[in-house]
Amino acid sequence: MSTISIIGAGQVGATLAFLTLERKLGNVILIDYVEGLAKGKALDIMQAGALAGFEKNSIVGTDDYSEIKNSKIVVITAGLPRKPGMSRLDLLKKNSEIVSSVVKEIATYAPESIILVVTNPLDVMTYLAYKKSNFKPNCVLGQAGVLDTARLKYFIAQECKVPPQEISTIILGGHGNSMVPIISKTTVSGKPLVEVLSRETIERVIEKTRSGGAEIVSLLKTGSAYYAPAGATLMMLDAMVKDTNSLLPASAYLNGEYGLKDIYVGVPVRLGKKGVREVVEISLTDKEKEALHKSAAIYRQSIKEIL
Ligand code: LAC
Repeated sequence: MSTISIIGAGQVGATLAFLTLERKLGNVILIDYVEGLAKGKALDIMQAGALAGFEKNSIVGTDDYSEIKNSKIVVITAGLPRKPGMSRLDLLKKNSEIVSSVVKEIATYAPESIILVVTNPLDVMTYLAYKKSNFKPNCVLGQAGVLDTARLKYFIAQECKVPPQEISTIILGGHGNSMVPIISKTTVSGKPLVEVLSRETIERVIEKTRSGGAEIVSLLKTGSAYYAPAGATLMMLDAMVKDTNSLLPASAYLNGEYGLKDIYVGVPVRLGKKGVREVVEISLTDKEKEALHKSAAIYRQSIKEIL
């Protein structure tokens, strides 16, 4: 049974811990620096396990990082969420301090692990985790494309009145306003999206996806989305734990792919037990490629502010 550590027992971290056990993906170590928080949530989850039938898997809640040793994967969810009106990049300074200190602990206690970053601003935090850990680039990646793609699927499915499973699409680029929905590859029940919806409707659906996270932040008023972010992270964990070689969008290190170098940004990758097996280059229109480069440039600028 794999051990998966989750740093940060907030809404995303705790929901992910619950889902990981419920799917029997592994044993969980849940860490939070707030005394008692991870322990309390772990107890609650174990008691749920007695009802839901995952009592054989274990979860330990603690503030002691030495517990993460032997972890196969360490997920970083620690950090501040957005407040209404904030962009993800507004979290840059504060969350880079938090992520830097967390990565130091991971490098000390779980030097053989794969780091999966969920903290915002996602692509910058993933690059920071890569730099601070000194891990190989395939062992550090970020979750966002699966979430953004799920949101796009949901909104298209609503518009077309078909199940989301019949939508095939992918979002590349950074997890922010510059995300790049690949409409040229989007199909609804096998038909190109551009033949199914009007240009204006497609634009509206893209806009809803871009502001999908912000809409939830403004409704919740404190905190941001967590069920869909945790579900998206679980999908990536599943691919790595089971070594499925699945093709999923993720923030991954680029070394020339898509014409980009030394940057983390959302691209299609194959995931397996060693993390990113391969960055897959799909054909993009010139406009999509330009948008991907613009998105990467935004994050390059933010990296300069913290490193
Ligand atoms: C969102 C936050 C978690 O997109 O980035 O909901």
